[in-house]
Amino acid sequence: MTAPGSRERGFARAALAAMRSYLVDDQQVAFSLMFCANNLRAFYGKLDWRLFADTPLVVHRGVAMEFTLNPAMVQDGICLAPAAGRLDLRGPPW
Ligand SMILES: CC(C)(COP(=O)(O)OP(=O)(O)OC[C@H]1O[C@@H](n2cnc3c(N)ncnc32)[C@H](O)[C@@H]1OP(=O)(O)O)[C@@H](O)C(=O)NCCC(=O)NCCS
Repeated sequence: MTAPGSRERGFARAALAAMRSYLVDDQQVAFSLMFCANNLRAFYGKLDWRLFADTPLVVHRGVAMEFTLNPAMVQDGICLAPAAGRLDLRGPPW
């Protein structure tokens, strides 16, 4: 989060660019996925995250289930991120 008094000054954009540089340039991840609060979709959309059309599977208390609390968004890594399909995180959502 950016502190309320410091918003709209590019801090979140800079932090997310640094994260992307680490994940893609250093770690060579294929793509990134996150679960995003509905009211932040427009913000992440500006930073090249796209809505993922389907509902990923996660593990909650040892049980595999669809994660329906928040929509999933994806961003390209060294590969194009899928727009839809079956994604199984095989672990917790965060
Ligand atoms: C969303 C948030 C991280 C943005 O931080 P920020 O430092 O103000 O963002 P930036 O200044 O880097 O903004 C980058 C761009 O996004 C835009 N933007 C900022 N907040 C936005 C919002 N809520 N919706 C849409 N666009 C937004 C900016 O105008 C800017 O656009 P531009 O490059 O075209 O000028 C910040 O408002 C925040 O922390 N909100 C609370 C988040 C929260 O509650 N998280 C907990 C649940 S995940």
